[in-house]
Amino acid sequence: MSSLGSCTGACGRRDFLQQGAALLALTLFFGRDAAAMPVRMGAALRRDGATVTYPIPAADGVTIDRDQDVILARSGNRVIAFSLICPHQNTALRWQEKAGEFQCPKHKSRYRTDGTFIAGRATRAMDRFAITRAGETVVVDVDRVFEADAQAADWAAAVVTL
Ligand code: FES
Repeated sequence: MSSLGSCTGACGRRDFLQQGAALLALTLFFGRDAAAMPVRMGAALRRDGATVTYPIPAADGVTIDRDQDVILARSGNRVIAFSLICPHQNTALRWQEKAGEFQCPKHKSRYRTDGTFIAGRATRAMDRFAITRAGETVVVDVDRVFEADAQAADWAAAVVTL
């Protein structure tokens, strides 16, 4: 438990103000980080056939696993596993942190955090893998890939809500 808010009983005015300032600084820091969605390279904990297991991301961000061609994205309490491959012509997608969107370096298609299509030559959203929660991990089935236009219900449901 945080030491913030631990001021009980004999707390003076100066202590109270110091704790308030620290709380405000933490709020601003975490608020900025949540919006930034930093990118990192990551690796699976294990692969067993077509199922790939990852730790639940501890914070908002995008994890790229080039070995498995998986992008794991956490935004708030939602975790989604995308195919790393652009649905237009099979180019590896990138996360553009400043813009807060996925982009394809080949023909500049752009996608939102949840994989929905914004603009470019692609004709559909990013493909999602089936994903389930198992304790403190998420399990991605790379044999079950859903296309937003052809399998809309499965694509929409391919989310783990924490
Ligand atoms: S390969 Fe990605 S937009 Fe063409």
